[in-house]
Amino acid sequence: MSAVAAKKTNNAALLAWIDEVVKLCQPERIYWCDGSQEEYDRLCREMVAAGTLIPLDDKKRPHCFLARSHASDVARVEDRTFICSKSKDEAGPTNNWADPAEMKATLKKLFAGAMKGRTLYVVPFSMGPLGSPIAHIGVQLTDSPYAVVNMRIMTRMGQKVLDRLHDGPFVPCLHSVGAPLAPGQKDVAWPCNETKYIVHFPEERAIWSYGSGYGGNALLGKKCFALRIASAMARDEGWLAEHMLILGVENPAGEKTYVAAAFPSACGKTNFAMMIPPKGFDGWKLWTVGDDIAWIKPGKDGRLHAINPEAGYFGVAPGTSMSTNPNAMRMLDRNGLFTNVALTDDGDVWWEGMDGDPPAHAVDWRGQDWTPESVNKGAHPNARFTVPAKECPSLDPAWEDPQGVPISAFIFGGRLSKTFPLVYQAFDWSHGVYLAATMGSEATAAAIGQAAIRRDPMAMLPFCGYNMADYWGHWLDFGRKVANAPSIFRVNWFRKDEHGRFIWPGYGENMRVLAWIVERARGRGHAVESPFGYMPRHHDLNWRGLDFSEETFRRLMEIDRDAGLAETQEQVAHFAQFGARLPKELELQRQLLAARLERGPAVWKMPR
Ligand code: GTP
Ligand code: SPV
Ligand code: MN
Repeated sequence: MSAVAAKKTNNAALLAWIDEVVKLCQPERIYWCDGSQEEYDRLCREMVAAGTLIPLDDKKRPHCFLARSHASDVARVEDRTFICSKSKDEAGPTNNWADPAEMKATLKKLFAGAMKGRTLYVVPFSMGPLGSPIAHIGVQLTDSPYAVVNMRIMTRMGQKVLDRLHDGPFVPCLHSVGAPLAPGQKDVAWPCNETKYIVHFPEERAIWSYGSGYGGNALLGKKCFALRIASAMARDEGWLAEHMLILGVENPAGEKTYVAAAFPSACGKTNFAMMIPPKGFDGWKLWTVGDDIAWIKPGKDGRLHAINPEAGYFGVAPGTSMSTNPNAMRMLDRNGLFTNVALTDDGDVWWEGMDGDPPAHAVDWRGQDWTPESVNKGAHPNARFTVPAKECPSLDPAWEDPQGVPISAFIFGGRLSKTFPLVYQAFDWSHGVYLAATMGSEATAAAIGQAAIRRDPMAMLPFCGYNMADYWGHWLDFGRKVANAPSIFRVNWFRKDEHGRFIWPGYGENMRVLAWIVERARGRGHAVESPFGYMPRHHDLNWRGLDFSEETFRRLMEIDRDAGLAETQEQVAHFAQFGARLPKELELQRQLLAARLERGPAVWKMPR
């Protein structure tokens, strides 16, 4: 079977690659995706017939479907993710590395005949608005129709991309669920393979993914391309590919300021990106540009410009409710795909944390009967929705601007129950890079005593496609090259009191912190200097509509000298992993922080 026979493009490299993949994987047929609504509807109907999708009630959730994955295929698999650069040092100590030639040999054996009995879908896609100078094109070859319909939501996909590509470069993304069908063999609802490989060849700019149909393992435009491969492209070409949401803040005077924020996976990016201003912020508006990934390039105006390379949201469902994220709830009313949530008896979806009482009976994500008494969860904790960006009520009118939006501040934050205050601003760019590079997050809130912090620099630990120390070096150089580098901030919504309760109400109330950040980024807001950085006093924030006492605020902002010094000590091992590749500035910043803490009081308290 030749790809040239049914070709929809004259791109010789693409046609040759497809022919090569067809020979290797031996699909039964090839299908070129045109990206139309008609095609999406047809693929969904076919998946309903195959048992992969369940249509939801057309009145309650018009044009929505539920998928249940195999219980062994529910999330990204970091231990099966590889960066196969030529040298191990190039991948660095925080990535799994394998020799590219050896890995290719392994993969070729796995992919041989892997698509037998299945359709190979050709999925051309653009990360970023088609034709934007910040965008890049990829082509995914996949045997998963579930991946195809998700890619149609998450990217600009179809014939229009081939028309734009001509004979230009593209990132080849090969994907198989690794479940060939023998003649006459009946398919299962969620085909996948126990053996999984999510492999990146950064020098070749190629992706091979085998064995999984779920999320970032299978929607290759997302983490594999837009972060791991793109971060390597960004280093070589002088830009940034980051695990960041992008948000516009409009004040009552109509002045708009954009910020980008990096929080680790499941730490609140979607919530923050779609926040609604709380009481006391009359006339303020928040605009969503993206909730997961930002591509950032220097503009001619000396500022950094960011696009959201995606066209939809692949968000965590559990915990999403009218109280935590009303905009997200509204955007899930129609045209969405739900994976691994519970199904109610009236054909709707349900998950833990949704508003109101749980249903008396439902079918859980495994397909088993569920009641509120069940010990098992109704929805898997990593159950997700896939929904077009256009469904988001707070979508920014400029979200598809090919030039991107100008970024005034970078915000970094993890899940930290102690030591770290609500918000502080870096003294300068290199201090800010240090704050981002040492960012951590707690794995579980259940950890007793000295909770183990997983260092997740820039929220990029699982997503940086090259040596993390070189990535830090790239960040340091990058900020110095632009005339108007954004200000850098650290935030922490998760500090707890002695009873283990969150001190800060979070969610929409985070607007109070964001408004201060925006003022500071514009060189206006007030602050005092602490050992950690610049901080707002109680009266520097807007408290209208929230009863939050100055004393509680001062507790939220205090810095314990010994805890701070212990933190600087833990960073020694974090930095030591990188040996001589560690940029010297970062170690100097660590020592400066230790010196400031040593000379300060046992407990630094916010002046009144
Ligand atoms: P990925 O899509 O995995 O990259 O993650 P994300 O950063 O978009 O995660 P998401 O927004 O789905 O994170 C949800 C989690 O963050 C839930 O456990 C929420 O309860 C928690 N969360 C979000 N915002 C806040 C907040 O302001 N305060 C507190 N305490 N928890 C929050
Ligand atoms: C994350 O884990 O950070 C995600 C979900 O955004 S996935 O696309 O599956 O990686
Ligand atoms: Mn993410």
